[in-house]
Amino acid sequence: MSKPEKFFDDEGLRLDGRRVDEIRPMKIEVGVLSRADGSCYLEWGNNKVLAGVFGPRELHPRRMQRPDTAIVRYRYSMAAFSVEDRIRPGPNRRATEISKVSREAFEPVVLTHLYPGAVIDVFAEVLQADAGTRTAAINAATIALADAGIPMKGLVSACAVGKVDGKLVLDLGKDEDNYGDADLPVAMTQDGDVTLIQMDGNLTQDEFKEAMELVKVGCKQILEIQREALKDKFSQFDNEEIEEETVVEAPESEVEVEETIEAEVVMTEEAESEIGDEVEEDDENDDEPDEYTGDEPDENTDDEDVEEGETNE
Ligand code: CDP
Repeated sequence: MSKPEKFFDDEGLRLDGRRVDEIRPMKIEVGVLSRADGSCYLEWGNNKVLAGVFGPRELHPRRMQRPDTAIVRYRYSMAAFSVEDRIRPGPNRRATEISKVSREAFEPVVLTHLYPGAVIDVFAEVLQADAGTRTAAINAATIALADAGIPMKGLVSACAVGKVDGKLVLDLGKDEDNYGDADLPVAMTQDGDVTLIQMDGNLTQDEFKEAMELVKVGCKQILEIQREALKDKFSQFDNEEIEEETVVEAPESEVEVEETIEAEVVMTEEAESEIGDEVEEDDENDDEPDEYTGDEPDENTDDEDVEEGETNE
């Protein structure tokens, strides 16, 4: 891909038609992996990211455990097929750096002190990359952590801001990232506390302040999308529970009552003669212990009674 001739059209819109303060469309699915404790699939523009959370679970080897807190491990990785030129599978310097800063982005929010000796593993797999994958991965990981029920002070939202052709733009696209003047990925808590900030390129102090204001707007929009995704997942869960209770309990209890009454009536009709027979039998077999005669034959007789009664009707 070569550098585009211009990054803005006559109306000031970007290459993909966005305004300078507009993020790419984001789609979130919660709970997509059955073996993970929490998971999320996130699409953001052409980025596709899958996040899975495992834990809290006991950390092995035990010598790695912290007696006062859980540790959080975060692994960011890109699939070999996620970019134009195939990436060599396995860890590399870039992935190690992104994993470290992303783990630190969650440190202030995850209530790790509640799980001493435990580990919480976060895996973020980039399936398709198109600029902004570390921020996409953090947004997916937050949802996966929430889906796993990990107690947190709040959600973390991440977005990049940058400078292209001398203009500040929110959420850089691929060309803007490759050929722009600056790229500033930021993650923040829902209270606006910054938990990750990196910068590639140059900004003046004023541009930096303006960029931070712009990225706050982006993170707020993302926070709303994250909240909606979680609300959708958990309100759907509530409705399912309520529906299940209604369907199962109401009709079955009516049927049960009727059957019980029928069975009792039949039993009552047959009972006298049967009881009489048993008493006679019992008297005849004096060698048999009383307990024995009172158990198995009674049950068999009961079953026969009910069947007979039903057939007669
Ligand atoms: O993805 P993010 O912006 O967080 O990180 P980056 O290092 O600034 O990478 C920007 C983009 O370059 C990625 O999103 C990928 O689309 C692309 N890239 C690539 O094609 N090959 C790599 N080995 C790394 C990144």
